[in-house]
Amino acid sequence: MPARKSPDSAGRAGKATPVPVAELSAEAARAEWARIAADVARANVAYHGEDAPEIADADYDRLKRRLQAIEDRFPGLAAAGSPTAQVGAPPSGSFTSVRHEVPMLSLANAFDAEDVAKFDERIRKFLGLAADAPLAYTAEPKIDGLSLSLRYEAGRLVQAATRGDGQTGENVTANARSIGDIPATLPDAPKILEVRGEVYMDHADFTALNARQAESGAKTFANPRNAAAGSLRQLDAAITAARPLRFFAYAWGALSEPLADTQMGAIARLKSLGFATNPLTRLCDGPAALQRIHTEIEAARATLGYDIDGVVYKVNDLALQHRLGFRATTPRWAIAHKFPAELAWTRLEAIDIQVGRTGALSPVARLHPVTVGGVVVANATLHNEDYIAGRGAKGHPIRDGKDIRQGDWVQVYRAGDVIPKIADVDLARRPADAVPYVFPQTCPECGSDAIREDGDAVRRCTGGLACPAQAVEKLKHFVSRGAFDIDGLGARQIEMFFADETLPIREPGDIFTLAARDAANLAKLKNREGFGEKSVKNLFQAIEEKRRIGLDKLIFALGIRHVGESSANLLASHYGTWAAFESAMSDAVIGTGRQWADLTGIDGVGEVLAASVVNVFHQPGERALIDRLVAHLDIAEGRRRVPSDSPVAGKTVVFTGTLEKMTRAEAKSRAEALGAKVSGSVSARTDLVVAGPGAGSKARTAESLGVEIIDEDAWLRLIGE
Ligand code: IVH
Repeated sequence: MPARKSPDSAGRAGKATPVPVAELSAEAARAEWARIAADVARANVAYHGEDAPEIADADYDRLKRRLQAIEDRFPGLAAAGSPTAQVGAPPSGSFTSVRHEVPMLSLANAFDAEDVAKFDERIRKFLGLAADAPLAYTAEPKIDGLSLSLRYEAGRLVQAATRGDGQTGENVTANARSIGDIPATLPDAPKILEVRGEVYMDHADFTALNARQAESGAKTFANPRNAAAGSLRQLDAAITAARPLRFFAYAWGALSEPLADTQMGAIARLKSLGFATNPLTRLCDGPAALQRIHTEIEAARATLGYDIDGVVYKVNDLALQHRLGFRATTPRWAIAHKFPAELAWTRLEAIDIQVGRTGALSPVARLHPVTVGGVVVANATLHNEDYIAGRGAKGHPIRDGKDIRQGDWVQVYRAGDVIPKIADVDLARRPADAVPYVFPQTCPECGSDAIREDGDAVRRCTGGLACPAQAVEKLKHFVSRGAFDIDGLGARQIEMFFADETLPIREPGDIFTLAARDAANLAKLKNREGFGEKSVKNLFQAIEEKRRIGLDKLIFALGIRHVGESSANLLASHYGTWAAFESAMSDAVIGTGRQWADLTGIDGVGEVLAASVVNVFHQPGERALIDRLVAHLDIAEGRRRVPSDSPVAGKTVVFTGTLEKMTRAEAKSRAEALGAKVSGSVSARTDLVVAGPGAGSKARTAESLGVEIIDEDAWLRLIGE
């Protein structure tokens, strides 16, 4: 739980002696109620939603007491909902976690017909299907809400969980039970059935909710998706129940028996079980038909009454879906074909440079605020210096070669959740005195040279750990969600401790010595503004709790360039322990040798990512920092996400010769999904060689080493296909 107190809380809550509630006129009460309710709602968002507390605990409590006193006298004010309804029950951070038995993945995106054609080609190639072989897809609207997984056991709803990071979500069962489209019991359902779909709010309900919120002085929502998310993730299920949420079922997780043989059939089954399924779902026989449906659904978009942001295509045959399997975070058998982005013109007021944790100098456009598709946009990414100059990655002109200057009128667009971008510049409105932007050659934060390596679009500060911006961004990443996620130590607190002279946090290891240093310093932290005895105690306890950390989270937290959560997961499950990972990275030589081959052999780990990780372990400064951190930790083993009954889990398998029933890519992906390591060469460590016709030297080596050799059919039997 983050400490609500923060150092800059002074004065914000207004401490003048208030008029006694008994003396307030109805009008004055309404005005004051609305003002305080908005303050409390804002503080709640900062505290729970953004992990960035804005007002002190005592001020927050004082506001809530006043609000309650006003409501006691004028109960009508709270009729449409009030932050007092959330007393002691924060809307987030207090849900229990649910580990998804089957991960909740996201979808890859397509933006045009060419992307869709490539999607179809990739699938055919993976499955070894000819270009003219029949291959059916479903097409259905992509609902712009938030995904939810509903678990039914013996026909009864037992659990509802948000997607979270895909592996672990929040338990929102009580809230889901209040949604009309979600049945509490199902007739004739499989014993175990996880139904997945989208929670959303329709336009009419959204408008009415916002009107009620505005009238009561409470927070209004920027769009229906935010309203749906904010309503579902309420700790008080009564608030969720009062919000008009809906649910479309479109997928499933764990199942005790198959729903059908096809996607269409499974959707029909979900419908017959009592779920709302999208009536625009269609069967298509190839990319051309998919494109036609996309056009049709896009044309219908404005009349649907709820937000959609694209059309999702899925391979219809579930056996083929199974063969195609998944990449790290997305299925190979589905894609989201997004609608074109929403656009608006505004003035670019300034270009700022932000220095990220990897030293990248990222230019940001500060815009005169403008509404784009219902959301106010004040910043847009400018990517890098070439982008500003009107050049693409390969030096080719973009925006017809028009550069971007301070003072320009620019066209902003946003698509889905992505950071807004600049699509175009209006040269006719360019101010006469506008000058081309000169990209800094030194780091604006530490003054070190900022250099661009060959082939890199980004200019980077060379200050490394000596650059305060990099150090502080690395620390923020370290404590972020998905990494150490320490309650009470968010981005704001990191900035404060980073600047602190007596009790500094300058590198991750410092977090774990904070309590001891504070004690040595006569426990001064609790006397500081923004801290109290309780919040300090909570903070130290939260830090203590994170001394034991999963290997995947630790690897992600290191903030190594190119290593996101999913690649950190891959590395953790491949190496299993910190000792194995650390020694492999220390011994690895970029581009050659056994450790390098092993690292780059992991499905999903490319050479760029691999080199980035190895590099970090070979830089003395970085290495020492990692060692100082690890000395304070108790690192849990990496989890292998494999079926426990898999006969090939942990085995090293080599495929050689021609495979006749599957492509090489399919064989590798299937084996890895079952927990096997697939290697390209045979050694004494190989457990199994699957040899097809024409197998040559690898099969001979296997024979001489006494490694078991089986044919493709035996392999398929072994893995139960
Ligand atoms: S299928 C394994 N179908 O889009 C993938 N997702 O960008 C299962 N979404 O996380 C997802 N409408 O929240 C699927 N008709 C639809 C969808 C849909 C919306 C969301 C879903 C997913 C996200 C991916």
